[in-house]
Amino acid sequence: TRIDKAGHKHFMAKEIAEQPGVIGAAIGHYLTPEGEINISTQDIDFSQFDRIIMVACGTASYACLTAKYWFEQIARLPVEVDVASEFRYREPPIPPRTLAVFVSQSGETADTLAALRYCEGKAARILSVVNVPESSIARESDYALPIHAGVEVGVASTKAFTCQLVVLFALVLKAARDREAITAEAFADHISGLRGLPAIVSTALEQNNTMQEAALKLSHARDVLFLGRGQMYPLALEGALKLKEISYIHAEAYASGELKHGPIALVDEHVPVVVMAPRDALFDKTVSNMQEVMARKGKVILISDSKGQAEANDGVWFSIEMPPVPDALAPILYAIPAQLLAYHTAVAKGTDVDQPRNLAKSVTVE
Ligand code: G6P
Repeated sequence: TRIDKAGHKHFMAKEIAEQPGVIGAAIGHYLTPEGEINISTQDIDFSQFDRIIMVACGTASYACLTAKYWFEQIARLPVEVDVASEFRYREPPIPPRTLAVFVSQSGETADTLAALRYCEGKAARILSVVNVPESSIARESDYALPIHAGVEVGVASTKAFTCQLVVLFALVLKAARDREAITAEAFADHISGLRGLPAIVSTALEQNNTMQEAALKLSHARDVLFLGRGQMYPLALEGALKLKEISYIHAEAYASGELKHGPIALVDEHVPVVVMAPRDALFDKTVSNMQEVMARKGKVILISDSKGQAEANDGVWFSIEMPPVPDALAPILYAIPAQLLAYHTAVAKGTDVDQPRNLAKSVTVE
């Protein structure tokens, strides 16, 4: 079947807009009507594992980093995350009772595949999360979980990222169940949170014009910083990656708490700082980091919900309001502004959004 842009200017815009639908599809595949996780314990039983290692490249590696926060907090299972190009040559020891998880949109990324083969040689159990079920990575895994995102054409990954997160979240809930690390009530809350996610993502997409306005401002910047704390830190990394990939603006992300250990030296009145901060348990900490930025005349773009905006948007350069979302699912929702900010900045700069210079959709050579 021929894939077209379905009336959008770019594949990336189409793929961003498709997210409520494909996230819904992924949820439909991994939740049963009774509210259980549809991954059989015959295939994978987390009570057999003491640790997880997760390996991927690019955007997929940020999905892994987000999942690390979830696995550790919700399933009480320690996780190490590594980029595949580092992992494959370090010869890391793989203790018994380790599950190795590989995340890849294409399922063909050379470094990720090599890392998988290394783990295979060490007799680890291998699970992959892929968009292409016939791919090499899927075929060489003990167990492959498809993300059901549909074909992704834009080089910068968007809907594959949010679907990877959905599948990883379902996996975390299964792990929490298998390990008896979660109460029935908390489990049910997470399930109903997941079911509500597509509608919340749709609401966030309605902020498109606001994000375009913010992007017009960003398009004049030379450097942009992204800040996030806890599970929002990987989202800051993803926001910075998206922006540099398609708009060619230099962007870096830091864990908010690291700001004072170096990056704050970069802040002046020319540097926009994008702060991703839902009103969660770490909000006050992030806000105090944000105030340090404003005290140095940095221009803050605050992405938060209505409560967060009401408490903290005094003196910020630009506010983007997100709908409320259950705390644990905020990384999936906040992917939307990360993507749209990058998209509209690239459009404003006139760069080739779907085929950015020097990049390839799938990197099958080392
Ligand atoms: C390339 C793409 C990135 C992608 C990365 C990993 O570099 O440009 O967007 O995140 O590969 O790809 P994978 O198919 O393994 O997810």
